[in-house]
Amino acid sequence: MIIAICNQKGGVGKTAVATELARHLTLEGRKVLLVDMDPQASATSILGVDRTDDDAPTIFDLLGTDLPARQTILDAALPAATDWGPIACLPAERALADVESDSTIGREMRLRHILTEIEDAYDDAVIDCPPALGVLTANALVAASRALLVTEPRVESAQALAQALQTIANVKAYYNPNLLPAGILINRLRGGRRDQAQWVQQIREIYRDLVLEVQIPEREALARGASDSIPVDRIPGTAEVAERLDSLACTLLRGQK
Ligand SMILES: Nc1ncnc2c1ncn2[C@@H]1O[C@H](COP(=O)(O)OP(=O)(O)O)[C@@H](O)[C@H]1O
Ligand SMILES: [Mg+2]
Repeated sequence: MIIAICNQKGGVGKTAVATELARHLTLEGRKVLLVDMDPQASATSILGVDRTDDDAPTIFDLLGTDLPARQTILDAALPAATDWGPIACLPAERALADVESDSTIGREMRLRHILTEIEDAYDDAVIDCPPALGVLTANALVAASRALLVTEPRVESAQALAQALQTIANVKAYYNPNLLPAGILINRLRGGRRDQAQWVQQIREIYRDLVLEVQIPEREALARGASDSIPVDRIPGTAEVAERLDSLACTLLRGQK
């Protein structure tokens, strides 16, 4: 499965979900590639990818190369730090921001070429998108078979979801008939907050089956895991969140809601 984790809003948990999803897919025995399409390179740093070699190619270099060769792409995928297990990462860098103003022919199709070249090398690719619906996210959606929308349970988030779903529909119509929404994942849910419970109910009324059954609670461990570069399942006392993430991975693998 090639899955794009997207939402044009920042700070909703895309990167946290992308890195943890990659982790839990490997725990299910899958061979996983994480593609970091965000110029902020948070996923690259959370996974502890060693970027001391400045000359090592990043996803920016691959996107800027016309039809990069299979071996070039495989060589660019770097291992995550050992805590994360056997995840490979196509790392991001700041310069990736320039791709948003790219006007060359085929600009939306470049990631698809890259991932098609190496499709037999991995079971799954998880694409962490930037907080925008520009060329980078378009590349992710053109390359993907699934798009997972991550959202916070906040009133302002509803409109962002509608826009993101419209973008997915447009990419499907014009570029990638295989693209399907994998669902809406509600992240950072706090028990006991009536406003959040109401929001969830409204979103379920609008989007029905698209809203995933599994939800991710607000937990300090998820933020701490990200700042310390360790997966949540390695932090003591987090069995409940780890279980949710596991169930997310399994749900997505089954291709069900
Ligand atoms: N469920 C959660 N509980 C606690 N903190 C979270 C949760 N999800 C994400 N965070 C934290 O919130 C911040 C923003 O999340 P991030 O994944 O970087 O969002 P995005 O990629 O959408 O911009 C990060 O510090 C992250 O660790
Ligand atoms: Mg992010």
